This record gives sequence, C-alpha cells and structure tokens, in this order.
Amino acid sequence: MKQTFERYLTMVEQALEEAVPAPKEESLDRTVWEAMRYSLLVGGKRIRPVLTLAFAELCGGSAQQALPFACAVEMVHTYSLIHDDLPCMDDDDLRRGKPTNHKVFGEAMALLAGDGLLTRAFEQALAFSGPSSDAVRGASVLARCAGASGMVGGQCVDLSAQGKEVDLSLLQQMDQGKTVALISAACQMGCIAAGAGDGQLEAARHYAEGLGMAFQIRDDILDVEGDAKTLGKNVGMDSARDKRNYVSLLGVEEAQRLVESYTDQAISALEAFAGDTAFLRELAVSLATREK
Ligand code: IPE
Ligand code: IPE
Ligand code: MG
Ligand code: MG
Ligand code: MG
Repeated sequence: MKQTFERYLTMVEQALEEAVPAPKEESLDRTVWEAMRYSLLVGGKRIRPVLTLAFAELCGGSAQQALPFACAVEMVHTYSLIHDDLPCMDDDDLRRGKPTNHKVFGEAMALLAGDGLLTRAFEQALAFSGPSSDAVRGASVLARCAGASGMVGGQCVDLSAQGKEVDLSLLQQMDQGKTVALISAACQMGCIAAGAGDGQLEAARHYAEGLGMAFQIRDDILDVEGDAKTLGKNVGMDSARDKRNYVSLLGVEEAQRLVESYTDQAISALEAFAGDTAFLRELAVSLATREK
C-alpha cells in the first residue's frame, strides 16, 4: 500500500504546485496567490486526492487523467480548513504544522485565499481532459458535496451544536456534511474520471460513507489523545470550545469501536468492484488507527 500511496502522492504534489502557480514578483494580486499556496502546498495527508486517483484506477481509468479532479477536491478541502480555523469559527492557530493562514496573512486575506481556492477548484475540475460531459458530471458532484447540502451544511450544524446537548443522529448528520461529503466527492470523482456507471458510483459512496465517518471520529479521538507535533494542529481544542462530538458523547473507547465498525462498512462496499481493491482496503484499515 505504501508504495502505491507514494506514487499517487508524487503525482498530486506536482499537480497541485502547477494548479496554483507562484505569482510574478510585480503582480498586484500576489498576496492572495501566496496565501493560497501557503496552505495548499505545506503538506497535509492528501487522503482525498489519493482516493480520487485510486478509484479512477479501480474503475479501469488512468490516475493521470483524474488529476484535475483530485486537485479540485484537495483545493476545496484546503479552503475549508482555512475558513474552519478563522477566529469566527474554530479559532485555531496551528494547521499542517504551521501557523494558520490568518495568523500569517490576516483574516481578510485568509478569507480571500479560501475563496480563491474554492473557485480555482472548479476551474481545475472543468479542465478535465476526458469527455466534457464527464467534466460537468465531476464538477457537479463536487459542487453538491462542497455546498450547503454537504460540507458547508455540516459546518453550520457543527457551529449550531456548539455548547448544546446533542444526540447521535445530530452528530451523524454533522459529520456526514462536514467530512463525509468531500470524501465522497473524492471517491465519486475518481469513478467519473474513469467513465464509471451509476452502480460503481453508488458503491464508491458507500465506501466513502464508512471511511468518512471513521475518519472524523478518529479526528475527534486524536483531539483528545493525539500529539500536536505529530498531528500538525493543536489538541484539546474541541473541549476547550465546547464542541460536541462522538468522544464527548460516548467516550474514547466506544468512539474507537465506532471507527472500527465504520471501517468494516467501508471495506464491505468494495465487494461491488471487480478490480483490485487491496489498496483501498488497506488504506481504510490504516486510517482507523492513524496518529495524524
Ligand atoms: C482535517 O482533515 C479535517 C477533517 C475533516 C477531520 P485532514 O485530517 O484530512 O487534514 P489534512 O488535509 O491532512 O491537513
Ligand atoms: C473540520 O472539522 C471539517 C472541515 C474543515 C470541513 P474539525 O474542525 O474537527 O477539523 P480540525 O480538527 O480543525 O482539522
Ligand atoms: Mg471545525
Ligand atoms: Mg477545526
Ligand atoms: Mg477536529
């Protein structure tokens, strides 16, 4: 798995660098480009773009051709992190091992860097070199998953739940939005890049639902048990901000049990594919016990 991950990672890093090029010294808008590049190119695990490439290959397509979709998802994800860290949201000062965007560029520029990444993402997705109907299909899935019925909606639930009593169904709705949605876009866009049909897209959504829920619950656990240096972000922030999540409701042990069962769900969804699913299976297993 490690080797395949590294192969995808190399492709993604290079494509991201090209997707948001360094501005010319003299350009008046250079600061926003620098702010976009600062958050996009400093690292991050790149789980989402790797999923896009893996699903493209699983469905018989080429990872290379899926790159614009992979970059688009990572750009939307990075924008969501920049805005998530703003003082009006989670108010964090460390991300991907570096000071958050607004700490370096100021709040207004961080807002614009997010806006710039979000819009550039759609420019990327629509530049997909396969059939133009698939470019539109990919961009449309991304729009739906990123917007108010997906990630943005989940962030809204997250903020509204702050400091309040919540139940499991609300938490599930919140995580479906804030985390599952973009992971689902990543998986589905890989299938679309390979020209896959509705059956494969549906299976990809099931995988993403399991993986995404496990991913967010593990994120909540790491906020309690993780190490800031390894994670590249501060820990203890959820309880400090009175944020409700699976750990605050169920405790770490029960939350980790849920991580395992959502991971099993993701793995079962892979049965619908005829191709080699080893990479996606091993990725899900490794994320269930991730430390960063
Ligand atoms: C963090 O996502 C936000 C969540 C949805 C939990 P990642 O853990 O994928 O962050 P990066 O991209 O590696 O920085
Ligand atoms: C963030 O969830 C999800 C999005 C950015 C959409 P969190 O607020 O838990 O993510 P971290 O812990 O700051 O990375
Ligand atoms: Mg948040
Ligand atoms: Mg946060
Ligand atoms: Mg978190």
